[in-house]
Amino acid sequence: MSLDVELARPGETDPFWKTHDRDWRSDLWNFRVVWHEQVHDVVIREADAVLGALRLRIAASLAHVDALYVLPAQRRRGLGRLLVARAEEVANYYNCHKMTVQVFHDHPAQQFFTACGYAVEAVIPQHTFKLDVALLRKFLL
Ligand SMILES: CC(C)(COP(=O)(O)OP(=O)(O)OC[C@H]1O[C@@H](n2cnc3c(N)ncnc32)[C@H](O)[C@@H]1OP(=O)(O)O)[C@@H](O)C(=O)NCCC(=O)NCCS
Repeated sequence: MSLDVELARPGETDPFWKTHDRDWRSDLWNFRVVWHEQVHDVVIREADAVLGALRLRIAASLAHVDALYVLPAQRRRGLGRLLVARAEEVANYYNCHKMTVQVFHDHPAQQFFTACGYAVEAVIPQHTFKLDVALLRKFLL
């Protein structure tokens, strides 16, 4: 019997993943996993203008900063720190034990997160865009 390995059409494998979502995660982690993933957006405004935002993804007791951006003209006013602090409150509320974020190693974003109390958990060589990436973390609770 010949096997076909092919690129599926968008959405074509949704039923497969729906059926097997719990099974593949349970096989992987070696216990019966109940997976609940959520995304929260934290935003900072002045009047109606959005000055910065943070997107937080929570799953498996872990909170991850997917994106954080403060408009260039608004930087070094403490807005980034406020966004991260609010995101940590959300993560705490959902019983996350840890926040993580990946940044370009030894660059300004790492200095920012260090100022916010984050530590280097690992440096992943030649990762995103083949650049070294620092995985940073802060324990909560
Ligand atoms: C990183 C970023 C979110 C910081 O936002 P911000 O509002 O300027 O940060 P804050 O004013 O709250 O800074 C808090 C502290 O972090 C440190 N910090 C912030 N930006 C820094 C920089 N460019 N270089 C070194 N340290 C920095 C400082 O210690 C600062 O305190 P201080 O201003 O009293 O010295 C912003 O520069 C940005 O959007 N960068 C582009 C996107 C990005 O890198 N996102 C993060 C990856 S997910």
